Amino acid sequence: MTEVYVEEYVVKGDSFLEVGEASTKLKGTLKMLGIPSDVTRRASVVVYEAEMNVMIHAGGGVIKASISSDSLVIEAVDHGPGIADIDLAMQEGYSTASDRIRELGFGAGMGLPNIKRNSDELDIETALGEGTTLRATLRFERG
Ligand SMILES: Nc1ncnc2c1ncn2[C@@H]1O[C@H](COP(=O)(O)OP(=O)(O)OP(=O)(O)O)[C@@H](O)[C@H]1O
Ligand SMILES: [Mg+2]
Repeated sequence: MTEVYVEEYVVKGDSFLEVGEASTKLKGTLKMLGIPSDVTRRASVVVYEAEMNVMIHAGGGVIKASISSDSLVIEAVDHGPGIADIDLAMQEGYSTASDRIRELGFGAGMGLPNIKRNSDELDIETALGEGTTLRATLRFERG
């Protein structure tokens, strides 16, 4: 059986000062474990964009990173409003961010496309009024 090392990060809603912490912490863990730097780089993008989305669009949630011998699985779970149209949300430039969020420099609609680009597998489960679970897999050796 493959050993799995798990880390969890709590992301608060509207916490602009703290957001980025999960990404920074995971980066440290991956470096410590000797995970290839390409994976570490991609993982920090995925976690950063996932924690931004959970913080801005869902009022907070939890990010979980599971590291096994051949891959890293990043899960972002929230109980926010859910995503009405995933295909639309995946398009570059699509954003429902408010003017206030845009004034802070976010809401370019690039987060999900960026997550997709940096993952080997991406799965998003969502239900309106219930929440969203994003699961990204990054393999250590790319086929
Ligand atoms: N966890 C989530 N809960 C609810 N809606 C979400 C969630 N994540 C993404 N969305 C929806 O998908 C849209 C696109 O997300 P994406 O991350 O690509 O862009 P953005 O967050 O709006 O802007 P950017 O990431 O460039 O700052 C969001 O505007 C929002 O409507
Ligand atoms: Mg985003």
